[in-house]
Amino acid sequence: MYQGLKGIPDNWQEQIINLLAERIVVVDHDGIILYINEAYCEFLGTTVKDAVHRPVQDVIENTRMHIVANTGQKELAALHPINGSEMIANRFPIIEDGKIVGAVGTVMFRSPEEWRMYRTKIQGLVEELKYYKTKLEKELKSKYRFSDLIGKCSTFLATKKFAERISGSNSSVLLMGDSGTGKELFAHAIHNSSMRSSLPLVAINCAAIPEHLLESELFGYDDGAFTGAKKGGKKGQFEIANNGTLFLDEIGDMPLSMQSKLLRVLQEKEVQRIGGQKSISIDVRIIAATHRDLEKLVEEGKFRQDLYYRLNVIKIEIPPLRERKEDIPLISQSLLKKLERKFYRKGIELSAEVEERLMKHEWPGNIRELENVLERSINVLDGKTIEVAHLPLYLRDMESETSFVNTPLSPNKMPAPKAQLPIDSLKETLARAEKEAILHALDITNGNKQEAAKVLGIGKTSFYEKCKLYAIK
Ligand SMILES: Nc1ncnc2c1ncn2[C@@H]1O[C@H](COP(=O)(O)OP(=O)(O)OP(=O)(O)O)[C@@H](O)[C@H]1O
Ligand SMILES: [Mg+2]
Repeated sequence: MYQGLKGIPDNWQEQIINLLAERIVVVDHDGIILYINEAYCEFLGTTVKDAVHRPVQDVIENTRMHIVANTGQKELAALHPINGSEMIANRFPIIEDGKIVGAVGTVMFRSPEEWRMYRTKIQGLVEELKYYKTKLEKELKSKYRFSDLIGKCSTFLATKKFAERISGSNSSVLLMGDSGTGKELFAHAIHNSSMRSSLPLVAINCAAIPEHLLESELFGYDDGAFTGAKKGGKKGQFEIANNGTLFLDEIGDMPLSMQSKLLRVLQEKEVQRIGGQKSISIDVRIIAATHRDLEKLVEEGKFRQDLYYRLNVIKIEIPPLRERKEDIPLISQSLLKKLERKFYRKGIELSAEVEERLMKHEWPGNIRELENVLERSINVLDGKTIEVAHLPLYLRDMESETSFVNTPLSPNKMPAPKAQLPIDSLKETLARAEKEAILHALDITNGNKQEAAKVLGIGKTSFYEKCKLYAIK
């Protein structure tokens, strides 16, 4: 017959408990110690004989066992200062017939050092897992080819053809184009049709990496280069990309100090890890991209001219969507196909009126904006046809957008007579327009502030300041 724990010989029970929890204490409802094992006593500098039957507060400094035995609230992984060190403890109430009768406490780690030792054992594995996960994701994404670049307008086709032609070369490529025009797609396509396609394409976003990490990210570091440096050092992206392609996205946002270091590597074709002695020779093809006007940045002294020349061997300018509006239907079709797969839907189409609206809009956020608009419409769509009502507000009220922003005032579109218009001060009017522009930019970028700043052509800092000024969350 099964007897639960009673089936285990009495003298085994203590051993089992001690094997399960190295350091353990049990108190009754009043916080009197009923049981404490030797390992715990040794850690506390006392003996079992001296500890049992005494109030737990007298034996264990800073204990909360008597509180748990009273409140019935368990405490997990609680930091517990003891002997000048912080140990990590679990405390559970013991309940019998719905009443709190006592508490059991275990010490998981005697010190943060012990915890750290344990953690480093699994941390290596966790990091490795993370690395492979992102690598896999990146590789899955790097499948873009020229055939994925949709468009048949002549300027776009010429750009695409040119990019295809220069794929095989080893010269640096500079991709210029507004936000969301497809710079990343071009970079992938160029790599994929080059001789280097079986070797890595390593992408690094210069705007997204904090300045102080960019150097170690690009060049790596050697063992002990700084406190917290990983044992055995770390390869930089240049080394990882060796023989392949390094895609330096948002190069216009690279800090000046890094620009000089990058230039040196490009000239000498070798890198030195931070804190390292030896030079490692490097053969990478550089593709850089930016939505910024690099020439203007050079003029303003914010971008090094010599680096600009180095990168600008082959310049590819990707036309914005507003200059290739005839491609909008075709691109929309291809984006809808992509979205259908994402949402497990089929046969979604645009109504004629929607298509007309899409053709009229200026698309400051380019293809990414178009993608966002279509995705949002599918989200509110029950049937198969996207109608004007499914579009985001700013595309539904387009009359005001086109007459206000894009059409020069013709005599029959003159504003109402002065007397009927409430006159605000210029400052107020400008502020209102600024606020509207920010809200609109946030709308088309799905609330992504970095993207929105880009669409508006202002820096991140000034964008955040303005959001604060106009109380935009
Ligand atoms: N020619 C194209 N045909 C189909 N889809 C495209 C095309 N160009 C871009 N896209 C899509 O538009 C979106 C934005 O493209 P991408 O990320 O390459 O833009 P970007 O120029 O790098 O923008 P940013 O400067 O904001 O980083 C992506 O989802 C991409 O799939
Ligand atoms: Mg990009």
